[in-house]
Amino acid sequence: MKNKIILGDCLSILKTIENNTFDLVITSPPYFQQRDYGNGNLGIGNEKTEEEYLENLINIFRECVRVTNSDGVIVFNIGDKYINGALSLIPYKFAIRAIEDKKSFLVNQLTWSKLNPTPRQDQRKLIQSTEPFFIFAKSKDYYFDLNNYLKHLDHINKNIRNSPSDKLGKKYFELINTSDLSEEQKSNARKSLNEAILSVHKGEIESFRMKINGIHKLAYGGQDGGRNNQIKNNGFTVIKISGNKMKKDIIESPVEITRDNNHPAVYPIYIIQELIKLLSKEDYFILDPFCGSGTTCIAANNLKRNYLGIEINPEYVELANERIKKSSCNQEFFI
Ligand SMILES: C[S@@+](CC[C@H](N)C(=O)[O-])C[C@H]1O[C@@H](n2cnc3c(N)ncnc32)[C@H](O)[C@@H]1O
Repeated sequence: MKNKIILGDCLSILKTIENNTFDLVITSPPYFQQRDYGNGNLGIGNEKTEEEYLENLINIFRECVRVTNSDGVIVFNIGDKYINGALSLIPYKFAIRAIEDKKSFLVNQLTWSKLNPTPRQDQRKLIQSTEPFFIFAKSKDYYFDLNNYLKHLDHINKNIRNSPSDKLGKKYFELINTSDLSEEQKSNARKSLNEAILSVHKGEIESFRMKINGIHKLAYGGQDGGRNNQIKNNGFTVIKISGNKMKKDIIESPVEITRDNNHPAVYPIYIIQELIKLLSKEDYFILDPFCGSGTTCIAANNLKRNYLGIEINPEYVELANERIKKSSCNQEFFI
């Protein structure tokens, strides 16, 4: 079953697959009444009502959760749609229903910010230039490798980082002096502050924050229990901020226009490759139940992961197979 694309309806095919088969699912189902994929009335997206569409989508999502390993992740990218001039929020209605089953939970909503969105004719609305990628996990043990995500930007971030200002930490020294901490606590706080400043100068960390008892508020409730205890017991805490801690839930990429692909709704291979690096290791098994022109499969292949694609339209199965063959030969998509 590995490294191929199956022609057919994904719900029927998924039902024949055993539990816990895949390590990662990444997919983009057809959006509600958005495009004609030449499937006649077959396939998702052609339903008469939003309710019917959501019901069908959730049934497929449930199957995706079932066939994913307990430490696996399921990523769904769904775009929004205006209905009678009003934004429908369909992606969020889907996400809310998806987590209601309690068989998975939402780790992140990664927002794709489109660098070249389609201009809007309607001059009384802003251009819609974002789409969510919902990242669901089945358990807290989900695979997540922040070091590998957007790694190619690490050196750029380092190069453009300004050298630290002479005033770095000055404000905190003043606050320590005027605080109600004991003399011993003040001395420990100054020592930790000096160490943090040195780490920024050495480039070991990006920056830091300090919280001092009686001056800064404790985090609300149990959300930051460890730090709250440090502040209560030691009088202060230093929060070190490294590059990884600054990796945000937003990713920029143009909408792809490629000559070799006449599929009408391709998602950027750049985003899919970054998600694969974040959420899987080499040899992991990745499923795309709505594989279209095969972007997920190409990305998986480029990164030495195994894949299975499912697609209802025979022309797209052919297109996907051609693209995979081409990318295996010249690695033109590899980033
Ligand atoms: C948004 S496109 C996916 C595009 C893909 N991410 C790419 O980059 O090429 C959705 C695809 O799902 C297919 N599809 C719709 N209903 C399906 C079903 N029930 N089972 C399998 N594929 C289906 C459509 O034919 C379409 O190619």
